[in-house]
Amino acid sequence: MLLSLRTIAPLFVLLTGVQAAFITDNCKLISDSESEKNALHLLEPLTNQTFTTEGKEQDYSYIFQVCGDAGGLKDAGLVQKEKKGEKLVRIGNYTKTRAIRGSDWVLLFYEGGENYDTHCSKEPRRAMIMISCSTSTKNDFTVVLEDNQKQQGCYYLFELDSSAVCPLIPSKLSAGSIFLIIVLCCLAVYITGGFLYQRLLVGAKGVEQFPNYAFWSEFGNLTADGCDFVCRSRGNREEPPTYRGVGTDPLGEEPEERDDHLLPM
Ligand SMILES: *[C@@H]1O[C@H](CO)[C@@H](O)[C@H](O)[C@H]1NC(C)=O
Ligand SMILES: *[C@@H]1O[C@H](CO)[C@@H](O)[C@H](O)[C@H]1NC(C)=O
Repeated sequence: MLLSLRTIAPLFVLLTGVQAAFITDNCKLISDSESEKNALHLLEPLTNQTFTTEGKEQDYSYIFQVCGDAGGLKDAGLVQKEKKGEKLVRIGNYTKTRAIRGSDWVLLFYEGGENYDTHCSKEPRRAMIMISCSTSTKNDFTVVLEDNQKQQGCYYLFELDSSAVCPLIPSKLSAGSIFLIIVLCCLAVYITGGFLYQRLLVGAKGVEQFPNYAFWSEFGNLTADGCDFVCRSRGNREEPPTYRGVGTDPLGEEPEERDDHLLPM
């Protein structure tokens, strides 16, 4: 008992430890709101992965990580890489993050990048990454546009398809239908099991191969009787004798039939 507790305890600590430490907590939110924190935690499955894409002009590529150093550049979540000189330009720091969440998307901002040289009043670069729900297992990362032909509010916009931000679809099966499925399964097991038992071990033939044939046929009769009693307003047996003559059956035939029936009893 003690031994098993000792072996389980570290595992438990490990599990709770892993659960508590979100890699996305490496990102620092500009405004520390609960909803932005939740949006960020949705991206947890995307951490420890590097996403790369070609720029529009083909002479740059972009490297993106969720709350991790992209291209090995400290605190940079998104960097631009020059194809020729291998020079890295910081587009945004994950230490300056915003995360906005919709029904099936998260918009991630990395701000505080390297200042523009000439464009955009030499303000810091910033990246916006639109992460949308996709059921495809492939995470498709693309650059959408580099909006830098204005005085301020310039940005680099990217898109990433991922199942991480898809809304959780509740199980379509209600408790009732699950119960019904279980009952049907039990019934199937009962019938096939009973059938095999009757056939192979008891050696029954024909309809008698059905499990508990005698019981079920009796049960069927009883049910029919019960239904007859409950549902029929005028039972044949209780029919007053005066009616018999008016019925469809010829008068002479019926008493004979009744007598035949009584004989064996
Ligand atoms: C993610 O990367 C960090 C740093 O390299 C590492 O400590 C951590 O174990 C990794 N996590 C997973 C789930 O791979
Ligand atoms: C971005 O991160 C780098 C590296 O830590 C740092 O030098 C720079 O000041 C940061 N930028 C902003 C705006 O915080």
